Amino acid sequence: MGKNKAVFVCKECGYESNRWLGKCPSCGAWNSFVEYNEKKKGKGNGGFKFDVSTPPTPLDKIDFKSVKRFETKIGEFDRVLGGGIVPGAVILIGGEPGIGKSTLLLQVSYKLAKMGSRVLYSTSEESLQQISLRANRLNAVSGDILLSSEYSVNKIIKYAEDVKPGVLIVDSIQTIYDEDTDAQQGSVTGIKACTSKLIRFAKATNTPVFVVGHVTKGGIVAGPKILEHMVDAVIYLEGDGNRGYRILRNAKNRYGSTDEIGLFEMHSDGLREVNDPTEIFLTRETESISGSVLTVTIEGSRPLLLEIQAIAAETKYGVPQRSVNGPEYKRVTTLIAVLEKRLHLFLGNQDIFLNVVGGLKIRDPGIDAAILMAIYSSYSSKVIRKDTVFIGEVGLGGELRAVEGMKRRADEAIRFGIKNIVIPYYIKENIESSKAKIMKCKNVSSIMEYLRDV
Ligand SMILES: Nc1ncnc2c1ncn2[C@@H]1O[C@H](COP(=O)(O)OP(=O)(O)OP(=O)(O)O)[C@@H](O)[C@H]1O
Ligand SMILES: [Mg+2]
Repeated sequence: MGKNKAVFVCKECGYESNRWLGKCPSCGAWNSFVEYNEKKKGKGNGGFKFDVSTPPTPLDKIDFKSVKRFETKIGEFDRVLGGGIVPGAVILIGGEPGIGKSTLLLQVSYKLAKMGSRVLYSTSEESLQQISLRANRLNAVSGDILLSSEYSVNKIIKYAEDVKPGVLIVDSIQTIYDEDTDAQQGSVTGIKACTSKLIRFAKATNTPVFVVGHVTKGGIVAGPKILEHMVDAVIYLEGDGNRGYRILRNAKNRYGSTDEIGLFEMHSDGLREVNDPTEIFLTRETESISGSVLTVTIEGSRPLLLEIQAIAAETKYGVPQRSVNGPEYKRVTTLIAVLEKRLHLFLGNQDIFLNVVGGLKIRDPGIDAAILMAIYSSYSSKVIRKDTVFIGEVGLGGELRAVEGMKRRADEAIRFGIKNIVIPYYIKENIESSKAKIMKCKNVSSIMEYLRDV
């Protein structure tokens, strides 16, 4: 009897090792290795017949023009996919439980059905009545959406072969299994096996497949991260559960940029597209308060006016706390060090809380100046007027540096009636406006001088 090859796989990044490791050498995660047993059952592969192998073909003989994306006409969704769905693509939709993955896919199904495409929606999580209830609530009932409740990947593919849908949706990958392996439902092996079958089906029949994967608050439950390597695109639905906003973000895309985000608002009749995104990221409060500062970031191709809020309060017990929601933690601690060193503020006895309104996760260095000003404003109780924005990256020497898209950022601020725009001194673009005062500052000290005058 041949020995089965057992390997261990990191749940976070998919790194494989032939022994169990406490810490992943690839991504550094602790206790993330699970056994991955590649043992096959003796029965063969259940009649699974999709074979995507092709003999070597000259590249210039391949007709790429016949690959046509199709739009769902949900603009925010198409944008994130890079302009629409590519036939044969396998797209993973991840997100925390209850964030609205099934809702979004049902709405997408309905749009596609209305345009004459047939959708096979295979669920292994809910009963057909539950989905029908949701579809009625969302006004997304159509005879061209075919529902099936199925746990076996082979059967799902069998149904898809019979129905020949324009799009196949599998909700969710963690709750289906492959009877050709011994793997348990939701285990790394099971998820890999099911996904690879779905991928082979997609490629062989040119059917786009959407696969739902759950992500929990504490990290990732056996699955999605490993799947990221296998599928063509990974989109995550994120959001601030309480406020009803949802952000669709592309983490990987073999057919387009990953910079775009889609914005939605959850209502009782489903996810609605947000057409003027900037409104989400501002508090409705028009009165200026200390610690609250505006900036403009760029997400994908879109400039967004954002509000950064900070509180600096004297530490009552032990070590000062730093709590950051939105920007990178390290970035904020670096900016705190810049405030201490360059502006001589003493923040070592201050708890600092920093928040981006709307819950957006931001990696853009262009908001540095605003983060710095928000902390400064709260610490010194100096109110910064709501008609002022700060744009620019802050260097360790306190210098203000230009970032990508300065003009587009300034234009967005002006569109929202901002009257004072603080930008770096050295910029390539020519930013001038009759509607706003443009203040060019070389470093954080010159921003302070400017603030003294207003
Ligand atoms: N009647 C309603 N009115 C408003 N919003 C609702 C209503 N019913 C459900 N929702 C919203 O829909 C969300 C659930 O959506 P959905 O079931 O699509 O999420 P999911 O990501 O698929 O969840 P799961 O992980 O459980 O599959 C709820 O968290 C809530 O925000
Ligand atoms: Mg669901």
